[in-house]
Amino acid sequence: MTVARPLVIAIDGPAGAGKGTLARRLADYYHLNLLDTGLTYRAVAYDLMSRGRRLDDREAAMEAANNVDPGRLDRSLLSAHAVGEAASTVAVIPGVRRILVEKQRAFAERPPGAVLDGRDIGTVVCPDAGVKLYVTASAEVRARRRLAEIEAAGGSGDLAGILADIRRRDERDMGRADSPLERAADAHLLDTSEMAIETAFLAAKAIVDDVLAAGNEA
Ligand code: C5P
Repeated sequence: MTVARPLVIAIDGPAGAGKGTLARRLADYYHLNLLDTGLTYRAVAYDLMSRGRRLDDREAAMEAANNVDPGRLDRSLLSAHAVGEAASTVAVIPGVRRILVEKQRAFAERPPGAVLDGRDIGTVVCPDAGVKLYVTASAEVRARRRLAEIEAAGGSGDLAGILADIRRRDERDMGRADSPLERAADAHLLDTSEMAIETAFLAAKAIVDDVLAAGNEA
């Protein structure tokens, strides 16, 4: 008898493409654990910011990374835009990545399996994931969605500024030397530019169901 390995669904893509919502829907539907790996980088950035340390202080950043517990990440504390920007700066430090990747892998291996979303899940963290999705959308669409979110929360923003931020973050995430954001060769591409989240979820579910059906036949 073969023992089934925990199912891992790896979701990568740029900021604002809809990975987070998709990851949550898939984790609920398939009863899997869920880890937004961006929060682990945000936790490191938040720790440095709140201790008044520089974002390029490697030793302090690695110490902060060692203290990250993927099971205890406070989204409301870490969701601020400035923390996301700072996270993409600490995310270029290889020592920080090494520590966080190890914790993310350990999380993924726990039964019954997990959905992880981030930038390097299918390429580096879980290269053997059962299902890999690369979720993207045009920078303009992502900027418009971000503005709508800000407005829905009662705030206001300017589209050109948000678009510039998104482009800068894409450049940093795709251009860094260690684990840049890229589509794994075996990742299914989901372009959500013209898709409602429900449509994206159904498309992702169809991909996962195919993989599970193929596994059951084997
Ligand atoms: O997804 P989120 O916006 O929370 O991620 C914040 C930053 O953390 C990203 O811009 C990226 O630089 C970094 N990150 C990463 N690898 C991951 C997840 C996030 O480098 N797996």
